[in-house]
Amino acid sequence: MASKYDHIYDLLQEYRKKNIYRELLISEIKKENSSNNFLYLNKKKVINLCSNDYLGLSQKNFILTKTREALKQVSQCSSRLISGNDIKIKKLEKILANHRTSENALVYPTGYMANLGVISALSTLEHIIFSDSLNHASIIDACRLAKSKKIEIFKHNDIDHLKILLKKNSHAKKIIVTEGVYSMDGDIAKLYELSELAKINDAILIVDDAHADFVFGNVGNYGGIPEYYGVAKDVDVHISSLSKGLGCFGGYVASSNLINEFLINKSRPFIYTSAIPEHLAVAAITAISFLKKNKNIQKEFFKKIHWFLAQLTQLGFNIGSTSTHIIPIIVGDEKLTTNFSKELFKNGVFVQAIRYPTVAFGKARLRISLNDSLKESQLIYVINCLDKLGHKYNII
Ligand SMILES: Cc1ncc(COP(=O)(O)O)c(C=O)c1O
Repeated sequence: MASKYDHIYDLLQEYRKKNIYRELLISEIKKENSSNNFLYLNKKKVINLCSNDYLGLSQKNFILTKTREALKQVSQCSSRLISGNDIKIKKLEKILANHRTSENALVYPTGYMANLGVISALSTLEHIIFSDSLNHASIIDACRLAKSKKIEIFKHNDIDHLKILLKKNSHAKKIIVTEGVYSMDGDIAKLYELSELAKINDAILIVDDAHADFVFGNVGNYGGIPEYYGVAKDVDVHISSLSKGLGCFGGYVASSNLINEFLINKSRPFIYTSAIPEHLAVAAITAISFLKKNKNIQKEFFKKIHWFLAQLTQLGFNIGSTSTHIIPIIVGDEKLTTNFSKELFKNGVFVQAIRYPTVAFGKARLRISLNDSLKESQLIYVINCLDKLGHKYNII
C-alpha cells in the first residue's frame, strides 16, 4: 500500500544504490597530554585530515581562556536588531572591516547564512547573477533564493566563458560571484581578471573567501585572495567564515557603509535569527590578535603544504589544479572512493569521501584539508598509507 513516506524511502534507497548515502560519525576530542588533543571518530583515534581549522587555532589555550572568561551567558537569545547586538560583536566587526580594507563589516551566525543573506538581498528582478560552476552549495542556495531574473553559470575559472556570458547579457544589471580558494578543488580564483571584468561591466563583485581568509594575503594581515592579488578594494562584497582559518565560529560580510546599512535593513538571514553569542565574538577577536603576534604560522604552514603536495604528485595521484591546503585526490567512482576512505579510516587516517551532489557524479574524491597542527611524523604516516592503499585500489 502506498504511504505518505514513499518518496523518502525511495530516495534513500536510490542514494544507497548510487553510493552517495551519507552517515554521521560520532566525534569526540580527548586530551592525551597537556599539549595534545586527539580526535576520536566512532571511538577510533584518527589523524584528522578533514578539519577546516587550518592554522590549528581552535585549541590554543590562550584563545580558550579568553573565550571562557567572556562567557557570561550561553547566548544573547535575541536577534541583532532586537537586543542581541553585543558590544563585542561591534568590536569584532571593526577589526574585520580593517582586516579586509573595507569601510564596514557585518557578522552573521555562519558563513552559509552570510551567503544567503547577501546574494538574496542585493539581487533584484533586473539582475543577472554570474556564478562559477564550482561555487559552494551556500552560494548555489543563495542564488536559488535570489529574485534575479536569471542565473548564468560560467565554466569553472574560465574568464573567456564569463566574457561571452557578460556580452550576451550586456543590458542587464550584473552580479559576479566567486570563491577565493575553491572548497572542493583547492584551486585559486582568477580574481585579478574577475575584478577587471567586474569594473568594465559595472558588475557587483562578491567573493566568498571562506577558505583563504587568514591563510593567504600580506604577512601580518592575511586578508585572503583579494589581498593576495592586490584587488581588495575592487571587491564590492567580501564574504567569509570565522570557522576555518580562524578556528572559531560565525560568518561575516565586509563591504561599503552603504551595503552594510542595506543588509541590516534587508537581509533576512541577518534580521530573522539570533545573534552570534558574545563569547564567540571574543574568541574571534582573540584569535585575530593571536595571529598578529604570531605572524609566521602561515609561512610554516605553507612549507607543510608544499611538501605534502610534492609527495602526492610524486606518488602519481590526480590532485587536480590545487596549490593550497585543500587537496582533492580525484578518484572518480563513488564506490571506489568510499572504500578507499573506509580503509584509510581502519588505518587511523580520516579523510572523507566527497561525492555527489557536493561534486559532480563521476568526480568523487578524497578531500584532504591540511591543518598546521598535523605533525611531520603524522604526515609521513599518511603519505605511506596513501601510497600503500592507492596501489591496492589501483588509484595510482
Ligand atoms: C566556500 C564556503 N563558503 C561558506 C561556507 C559556510 O561557512 P560556515 O561553515 O561558516 O557556515 C563554507 C563551508 O564549508 C564554504 O566552503
